[in-house]
Formats: sequence, C-alpha cells, structure tokens
Amino acid sequence: MDGVIIIDHPLVQHKLTIMRKKETSTAGFRRLLREISTLLCYEVTRNLEMTSERIETPLTTMDAPVLEGKKLVFASILRAGNGLLEGMLDLVPAARVAHVGLYRDETTLEPVEYYFKAPEQLGNRLVIVVDPMLATANSAILAVERLKQQGASNIRFLCLLAAPEGVQNFRSAHPDVPVYTAAIDSHLNDLGYIVPGLGDAGDRMYGTK
Ligand code: URA
Repeated sequence: MDGVIIIDHPLVQHKLTIMRKKETSTAGFRRLLREISTLLCYEVTRNLEMTSERIETPLTTMDAPVLEGKKLVFASILRAGNGLLEGMLDLVPAARVAHVGLYRDETTLEPVEYYFKAPEQLGNRLVIVVDPMLATANSAILAVERLKQQGASNIRFLCLLAAPEGVQNFRSAHPDVPVYTAAIDSHLNDLGYIVPGLGDAGDRMYGTK
C-alpha cells in the first residue's frame, strides 16, 4: 500500500504476538510495549538526514556522521501514545515531546480534544506522531491536523497495529504523512476495535477496564 511501511522485523513480530495474547499480564504488556517501541523507533528513524562533524578520536581527527537539523519531535496521542513514547525516548533522549490529549467517545467513536501542548518551531522539525492503535483513525487525523495548524509539515505516523479502514481514512486525510506499523489486521468490529487486535491498548498497559 502506498505510503504505508510495515515493520516486519522478526523481533517486532514475535513481541507483538505475545502482546496480543489475552493472558499476557499488565506488567508483561507494558514491558513488551517499551521494548517494541525502541525497535519501531529504530525503523521510523532509519532514513533521517545526516551531516558530519569534525571530531578528535584518541588517535586522530575525522569527519564523523551526526544527525542533521533540529531535534526530533515525538507527538504522543494520550493516553496510549505514552506507552510508545517511553521506549522511543530511551533511544532518542534529546527528542522534544508534544502531547495531544484526545479521547474516543465510545458512542460516536469521534475524538474529543482535552489537551494540546507542543514544542516551538514545529515547521523545522520532523514530527513523529505515536499511538499504538490506528483503528478508525479519527484521533490520528485530528492530532495531525492540530500539529499542522501549529506549523508541522514533515510528519510521520507510527503505530503498532492498524486496521485497513484506519489506514485508508488516514491516508485520504493526510496523503503527505506516511504510516509505519508492525501489522495491518483484518478489520474493525462494530465497537471500533481492531480484529484480531490486542484489545484496548490503554487498558492493557495501565490495567484499567
Ligand atoms: N484502540 C485500542 O486500544 N484498541 C483497538 O482495538 C482500537 C482502538
């Protein structure tokens, strides 16, 4: 699918399978999400632009590669996005963080915004929006709209699992934003859950119901 990158690394796929199992504990789910998010982060940042910097090693000087440009921004769609955020910050500790507080109205399935805070100069930075589940994509679409309103123009969307309906909705709304995901599942059910999925990611990581 155009603009959709499936992260099919064996470790990602293996960890995802354990996360899907209903018997996986809250602690296990949270630990796996943190582990898997570092791997997803590795893939979503694979082609970042590089420059070089003259450094001195103990033996000589050399032009060594370093990341180019301003610090990355990770934009977490609350609350489940925070589960991906932590592992990503393990890998890119200098990243800036935006929070977009959206919850899904369980009746209409429409997103409702309750919080928005983003770093300055979004226009000069790569913004990676994170939410484990791309279901209807309503929240993701709104979050990206809000970040664009704040000046973001170079955006990637990273999730763990996607539904085909969500990918299609998201790509129609934001054709300029590539989607990175570990898997695209079968479909959404009538309650807006991804099938086979892994259940409610927020509930599973925080032990709520
Ligand atoms: N959000 C989740 O956490 N799980 C789904 O299956 C769909 C949306």
